[in-house]
Amino acid sequence: MKKIIGLSILSAGIFIVFFLTTNVTNAIGGGKAVTPNPAGTMPDSVFTFLKTTCMDCHSDNGSGIAKGQLNLSKWDGLTVEKQKNEAQDICKVLTKGTMPKKGWLKKNPDLTPKKSDIEMVCNWSESLKK
Ligand code: HEC
Repeated sequence: MKKIIGLSILSAGIFIVFFLTTNVTNAIGGGKAVTPNPAGTMPDSVFTFLKTTCMDCHSDNGSGIAKGQLNLSKWDGLTVEKQKNEAQDICKVLTKGTMPKKGWLKKNPDLTPKKSDIEMVCNWSESLKK
């Protein structure tokens, strides 16, 4: 009997841990499910930045026009050549300050890209060229 109680407590624990970690992942994505994680073809630091700063619009869950131009949910399916081009565009719009959109930044002022973020993304895009 004791064994059964112990097992139920253990499985409840596992369930709670699973539930918590799943929720944390969703919180990072701004409440929207973001798939797939392109970590394999993009450094985690770059992905985390793009996920929080760009993927509200540039993802499967984003706006039609934005995802038509750049859909980061489909990053893994792009050819290496295409990834290089997109990475350069991403660096360009960040350097120019045209993305993220002003209206979005007003609502998310704490997510304004920092100089170090832009440098990180541009260094990554440079590294793809080689
Ligand atoms: C509020 C929604 C929104 C956010 C957030 C956003 N974009 Fe955009 N983006 C758009 C829309 C809409 C377009 C379509 C063209 C336009 O309206 O300028 C676009 C176009 C683009 C383009 C292609 C056109 C161009 O100007 O070269 C790139 C590249 C781009 N975005 C990159 C980014 C990056 C990188 C981020 C994050 C740092 C980002 N966007 C964040 C909405 C957004």
